[in-house]
Amino acid sequence: MTTQTTTQTTVDPAQVEELMGRLLNDLAATAGLQMTHIGIKTGLWKAMAGGGWLTPAEVATRSGVAQPYAREWLKHQTASGYVDHDPQSERFALPPAAAAVLADDVQSGIVGGFASMLSAMATDNAMVEEAFRSGGGVGWHQRSAQHWQGMDLATRAEVVPALASQWIPALDGVADKLRAGASVADIGCGYGAALIGIGQAYPSSRCIGFDYHDASIAQARKAAATAGVADHVMFEVADAVAYPGARYDLVLFVDTFHDLGDPLAALRHTRQALADDGTVLLVEFAAADRLEDNLNPMGRLLYASSALVCTANALSQGATDPLGTAPGPARLTELAREAGFTRISRVDVEAPFNLLLELRP
Ligand SMILES: C[S@@+](CC[C@H](N)C(=O)[O-])C[C@H]1O[C@@H](n2cnc3c(N)ncnc32)[C@H](O)[C@@H]1O
Repeated sequence: MTTQTTTQTTVDPAQVEELMGRLLNDLAATAGLQMTHIGIKTGLWKAMAGGGWLTPAEVATRSGVAQPYAREWLKHQTASGYVDHDPQSERFALPPAAAAVLADDVQSGIVGGFASMLSAMATDNAMVEEAFRSGGGVGWHQRSAQHWQGMDLATRAEVVPALASQWIPALDGVADKLRAGASVADIGCGYGAALIGIGQAYPSSRCIGFDYHDASIAQARKAAATAGVADHVMFEVADAVAYPGARYDLVLFVDTFHDLGDPLAALRHTRQALADDGTVLLVEFAAADRLEDNLNPMGRLLYASSALVCTANALSQGATDPLGTAPGPARLTELAREAGFTRISRVDVEAPFNLLLELRP
């Protein structure tokens, strides 16, 4: 609906019907995401991949899911258009393109991560609803653990495979430094997956992750130990505006910068904590500068995440003008300049969900 239609005084029944249709579509999509997610978690997609035409009983046997659930799940996925159905044989098949996404660990990890976060948002909505009224905030630490876990899953699937192997090599001279042994900080590191990936790829570098949330830091330490990198990948509780250390060669903000109560102060602090020839990598979500250019599914997802999670976190930390989850490159560049960075450029890499900025003093 455009702003023009709001000036109309009469209501067009066809427009009302069309709107109701879209709302029904939203309800169906919300239910569908739960079904897709349960398919990932129970292995239904993997059980179907490459299996050709299968009966519900065969899908049940291959996946270990009870037959009545498998049957209704297959009907649902047929109605959603992800599964093909042959009415003659009463068999179902997963098309190769759907298998490439839904039975693939990386692609389904992104969907699963976001699905977990969206489920957690539904649980946490009472707190957020209250904040909508009061203008107060809801901190990351107040969220359900399912939200933190979903973020970790999404980061493992979406960021980790690209960060060390593609994104860092695209930064000016950074990969060489990390190979030789550099000092890396990850601000708002959450469960630490991004930094652990760097520690694995560049074992001579000393990596330290900071997050204000103690439960996330405890989890990140465990993950580093499990990955066998705890000797050079460490984690500490600290706020983005006051983390310790100096002369870092690389400072990362992975899907965190827009969450901060005072992002400008965090960048100013980072400017001070950086080596003279150091680099900051801002990994933000792919969004355009203007609302008009974000009127698409990604924009819908980002603005919802913004109001329900990221802006709420920033407000909990006293933000007066929160960035929102989709600030766009112009606003980010403006903040970086204000914080004292002079060389600011978009990192030219394949990152459909992300916008990457390289900042140099
Ligand atoms: C969206 S999560 C991203 C986590 C992680 N970077 C990742 O990609 O998985 C945002 C993280 O920022 C942290 N955070 C929020 N405000 C912070 C602050 N002021 N200082 C440090 N960390 C903060 C949260 O605790 C959370 O772990």
